[in-house]
This record gives sequence, structure tokens and C-alpha cells, in this order.
Amino acid sequence: MRAIQVSQYVKGPLDLKVTELPTPSPSPDNYLIEIHSAGTNFFDLLQIQGKYQHQPPLPWVSGAEFAGTVLATPTASPKPKFKVGDRVFGASQGAYATHILAPEIALLPVPEGWSFEDAAGLFVTAPTSYGGLVHRANVQPGDWVLVHAAAGGVGLSAVQIAKAKGATVIATAGTERKREVARAFGADYVIDYKQPTWPDEVKKLCAAHRKGNGKAGVDIVYDPVGMIEQSLKCVAWNGRLLVIGFAAGKIEKVALNRVLLKNVSIVGLHWGQYAKHEKETVGAVWKGIFDLVKQGKFRGTAFTDESFVGLESVPRALKALGGRETWGKVVVKVVDGKQSKL
Ligand SMILES: NC(=O)c1ccc[n+]([C@@H]2O[C@H](COP(=O)([O-])OP(=O)(O)OC[C@H]3O[C@@H](n4cnc5c(N)ncnc54)[C@H](OP(=O)(O)O)[C@@H]3O)[C@@H](O)[C@H]2O)c1
Repeated sequence: MRAIQVSQYVKGPLDLKVTELPTPSPSPDNYLIEIHSAGTNFFDLLQIQGKYQHQPPLPWVSGAEFAGTVLATPTASPKPKFKVGDRVFGASQGAYATHILAPEIALLPVPEGWSFEDAAGLFVTAPTSYGGLVHRANVQPGDWVLVHAAAGGVGLSAVQIAKAKGATVIATAGTERKREVARAFGADYVIDYKQPTWPDEVKKLCAAHRKGNGKAGVDIVYDPVGMIEQSLKCVAWNGRLLVIGFAAGKIEKVALNRVLLKNVSIVGLHWGQYAKHEKETVGAVWKGIFDLVKQGKFRGTAFTDESFVGLESVPRALKALGGRETWGKVVVKVVDGKQSKL
């Protein structure tokens, strides 16, 4: 197989190289999958530099998210969930490769009608946003939801899920192009959060369009950036502020008196740990997402302004992701469908 193997940590993505490695053999516990598309994540950039919390012993193949076709089922499994030829997506170490081994728990079926490119970016973003908005913040029809970094990977999922649940969405993003994308995925209002007065813009919108309690601000804040402190200025009584991530690079400290005075909740979400602590919710979240897909209320968010074809384009894709130049999920097409053996 061909793969991006890391034998020593690199300074940046442009130092990564594609190499030839033995194709993995079918295994007792894992599916062998031919990868068609790989999703990029910011943590890939940290991992190749040795700066991530999960660093496998060197050497290892980079990349985590993928979509592809089952080439072999686990040899020790009498009743595998997927059969040879099934289209699957998932996450496992080593996605920047033509082949990967992955356990059943890390795989899901590619939704009907979906491309591998769109499916390769689904495994992390969609459940993070669904779990946060539906299971943690209890989004309801009529709620107003403020989604920060709304054109990012988790942001675009959050916009779609909030809309599908009957909410009104105010989206923030740092460029005109990103605000245009947030609108195209359903946001009702967009705001440039690089302007320091953005909380006033949110308050103005709520005062103009909402009734009663809602005149003071939004009901839910979805925050993958680290903007809880400022968002407290424009949240309504009983509001919920979801702590999703710290894309801006700083972990905030919040004055708790404001949480008390506004009668709001600050709610965290650690999606990756649900498989360990709350397995039943993992199934419920994916059922909710697949239902929205079937109803045509949730679509793939693969970045389309530029294409990344072949493993050789992984360094360029990761550089673009790290440079904050992209929107949605940056996906690399690993194998051209015509070259596939299936
Ligand atoms: N809690 C969980 O379980 C969970 C799960 C998945 C991801 N996350 C976290 O959620 C965050 C976002 O993930 P993502 O996949 O949506 O990432 P992404 O696609 O790279 O989007 C991040 C967005 O954050 C904004 N941003 C603000 N300040 C930034 C900065 N200094 N550098 C880079 N971007 C900045 C950018 O939008 P603008 O240019 O519009 O500002 C960018 O589009 C990450 O911190 C990730 O670790 C958490």
C-alpha cells in the first residue's frame, strides 16, 4: 500500500512524504478497508509534530478519518456487520493511506447517495454537534442558537442540526466567504466576530426579532473557539453555553458571578469519551443524524473551493487547514474510483 508514514516528527505538513509499505493482511478483529477519501483534522497537524495527547510509538501512519470500501471482514467474526464491498466511513489511526485496518466499532455505513468525500468528514463533526445541541443543550423548536466559527467543520454541522430542530441560527465567522458558506448551509443571520462589537449585533437581532425573555439574547451558544466569556453578554435567561473546543488556542477562565446573575448553564461535551462512558448515547446520536440525512436536512460539508487528489496532496491540504483558509471539512481523495479493485 501507499501511505504517509511518520518515522520521526516533522516541523510541518510540507515535510511529510508518501512511502510504500506492506498492505495489511486481513485480521481476526479488524476489517481491511480500501480508503477512497481521508478527512483532515487539526489534531493531525499536532500529531505529526509530536504535540498531540495521543502519540503512538514511532513509526506510524498519519491521518484518522476515512471513507472507503470493505476488502475483507474480520477473520474471527462469525457474523460481521459489514460485508465485502460495503461502503463505510470511520476513524482509526492511519487514514493517510490506501488501506487501513479498523474494528467494527469504528465504522458506519456511508449514507445512501453520499460520496466518499462527504462521508470521510462525518465521523467526528456530526456527532459532536448533534450530541452537544440535542443531548447536552436540549435544543427546542423556536430556540435561537448562536454558532461560533459556523463555517468550520463542527460549525457547519451545528448550523444544519440547529435548523433541522426548528431553531433560528445566528452564525459567526471571520471572512465574507465563510459567512456566505454558513448562510448556504442554513444560517438565518451572519455576523463578523472579528469586530469587537459582535455581541451587540447579536443583542440587536434578538431585540428586534424575539419576544419576552428572548429579547435579551440567544438560548444556546455553540462554541468551538473559546468565546464563552464574551458570549455571556448576549445570552438570554436560562441560556445554555456549550463548550466544544478552543480553536483560538486559549482556554478561557470565566467570571462565575455572570453565570449566576444570568441564570445560565455552561455545558461541556467530550464526544470521543461517549464510547467509554455512555455507549447507549452513541447509538442514539447516530440514529438522530441518519434520520436527518434521510429527511434531507443534513448534507456533507466537504470543502470544494479547492481539490486535493492523491496522497501527495495531504501536505497541501493540512497546510491549508492550519492556515485557516478553508471551510467545512478538508478532504483528500486518496483513490480514484476507476483504480479501485471493487
Ligand atoms: N468537544 C469535542 O468532543 C470536539 C469534537 C470535535 C472537535 N472539537 C474541537 O472543536 C474545534 C473546532 O473543530 P473543527 O473541526 O470545526 O475545526 P476547523 O474546521 O478547523 O474550524 C475551526 C474554526 O475556528 C475558527 N478559529 C477561530 N480562531 C482560530 C484560530 N486562532 N486558528 C484557527 N481557527 C480559528 C476558524 O473560523 P473563522 O476563520 O471563521 O474564525 C475555523 O474555521 C477544535 O478545537 C476541535 O478540537 C471538539
